Amino acid sequence: SVAPSTDLRNSSSPLQRFVKGKRKINDIFVEIEDYVLDSGNYVTALYKENKVILLENDVKLVTGYVDKVKGIREVLARDHMKVAFFGRTSNGKSSVINAMLRDKILPSGIGHTTNCFLQVEGSENGESYLMTEDSKEKQNVKSVGQLAHALCKEKLSESTLVRIFWPRDKCFLLRDDVVFVDSPGIDVTPNLDEWIDKHCLDADVFVLVANAESTLMVTEKNFFHKVSTKLSKPNIFILNNRWDASASEDFLDQVRAQHSERAADFLVKELKVCTPKEANERIFFVSAKEVLQARLNEEKGMPPHSGALAEGFPNRYFEFQDFEKKFEECISKSAIKTKFEQHSQRGKSISQDIRDVMEAVYERALATQKEQSLVKKELNDKLNYTEQQLLLVTQEMKEKIHHMVEDVEQRVSKALSE
Ligand code: GTP
Ligand code: MG
Repeated sequence: SVAPSTDLRNSSSPLQRFVKGKRKINDIFVEIEDYVLDSGNYVTALYKENKVILLENDVKLVTGYVDKVKGIREVLARDHMKVAFFGRTSNGKSSVINAMLRDKILPSGIGHTTNCFLQVEGSENGESYLMTEDSKEKQNVKSVGQLAHALCKEKLSESTLVRIFWPRDKCFLLRDDVVFVDSPGIDVTPNLDEWIDKHCLDADVFVLVANAESTLMVTEKNFFHKVSTKLSKPNIFILNNRWDASASEDFLDQVRAQHSERAADFLVKELKVCTPKEANERIFFVSAKEVLQARLNEEKGMPPHSGALAEGFPNRYFEFQDFEKKFEECISKSAIKTKFEQHSQRGKSISQDIRDVMEAVYERALATQKEQSLVKKELNDKLNYTEQQLLLVTQEMKEKIHHMVEDVEQRVSKALSE
């Protein structure tokens, strides 16, 4: 069951814009598909009868769109919003994803835990299972322990992708078509280029999970430098995680200011992916571990913090929620733009092309009709002429006969009188 607070958030979530947009554009493509099918049947039938009005190329173009539109509809059905998490080992990438999903789905722990790419996405019918890249087999997963075990026994290379399907109704992010990608620590591999080509090019949002106890590292920075050479203006969030661990430190505000400034400089001056104002909405100080625990408690109807907690928990919890809000705005906007803009352009050009063909057919049909009526007129004129001639001839003949009769009559009466 979903907690009421989840439902409340979901109804106003910007993610819904993507979901509704997807539904709408899909409806439009259902209509386009109908239209393309009808047009295809029409031109094929007409071409059989008349090869003047319809040209072979027109028929090829129109019927070719039947498969293309089908293809677009398939891509559309698979379209989702993708967020990819990166960072050094043990910074808490898997924990952040679990906190957002409100459940312990991904294995997390000390040491090097995640050893390949894990993609979490919604499944239909409440099923939970995983699939590896090279097989279509659905491996059942019931728990994190089982998942960790399944992942260990597969001898996977670190850049392979394992897809974890989790019931959509367990989390509104999955229900709204958000797909999460967890990665191994970027400090444990030399294959960053392969990673980027395989897993990053279609991501709408990147989350760099940094460790608030230290500072942004060169490996982390280099990775995103590489990403931004391949993608223009990637959307990057920086989470300074494990902020709870520093809660009792002195000079906390100064530490925060220093981290914020460095992270902002990185996004604004080094990567040039956003403005200083935007950077304020991209950098957060959080504790994934606390948030996950709080949400698990809330799910059970318990207060969010039952045990001993580090100072400042409510603020960190609030900041995590604030991150999620900005994240939802960003990913929905980006996905709508990158995914749907392309589809709607295609849809427009397909209907324009078919319209052009139909118009050309109409013009050609009109031209043939005109030609035919010209011939008809000529024939008509000839007919009229002949008719008139005929009339004249008969008139003449009548007169001649009349004269002849008169002449004969006169001669007869003359002969009689003599
Ligand atoms: P790898 O998969 O090995 O790259 O690590 P990861 O980045 O996925 O980190 P993971 O989520 O496995 O967390 C590593 C350890 O840090 C776990 O023991 C977590 O419980 C702990 N941890 C994660 N987030 C926090 C946090 O915000 N605060 C504290 N105190 N511990 C955390
Ligand atoms: Mg991990």
